[in-house]
Amino acid sequence: MRADLIERSFEIAAERCGDLTPLVYARLFDQQPAMEPLFCLDTHHQVRGEMLSQVIRAMLDFIGERQYAATLIQTEVMNHAGYDVPPAVFRTFFDVVAETVRDLMAEDWTDEVDAAWRELLTALDYYVTHPDQAETARDAAPA
Ligand code: HEM
Repeated sequence: MRADLIERSFEIAAERCGDLTPLVYARLFDQQPAMEPLFCLDTHHQVRGEMLSQVIRAMLDFIGERQYAATLIQTEVMNHAGYDVPPAVFRTFFDVVAETVRDLMAEDWTDEVDAAWRELLTALDYYVTHPDQAETARDAAPA
């Protein structure tokens, strides 16, 4: 996976937009309106911001040292069942992060960058659809 392309795309997005939080959640709630009421207690958008920052850090770990991201995703899929978040929405959330970065990159989003992101999104989704850590450890999940 071209980690350098994904890292660079986050850098360009950050240069063009200081805080991705409003863009990401507007897009998320557009695609998954049922998720918006789940954030009703988050009046100052701190949870939204903290969650997004954890997700971006996990993506960077996943394409780099991969110290904890896969396990974090598996754990949060389980934990978030308690918030009534269906596992499929994790894929939506990761897609929404990618789409937000893509829009900010505009003409800098090349076919190569697109391919790198697609590979990342598919690899992340493996851990959403396989949240059982005992199973993925046994099966030696794909890189
Ligand atoms: C790997 C992916 C995810 C990670 C690491 C993550 C992480 C977190 C964390 C750390 C919190 C608590 C934040 C705090 O209290 O400051 C949280 C809360 C929450 N997350 Fe996520 N999350 C993920 C995916 C999702 C997805 C896909 C949704 C669906 C929209 C979601 C919905 C929520 C909700 C509804 C809350 C509670 C909001 C509240 O208490 O007001 N999360 N998440």
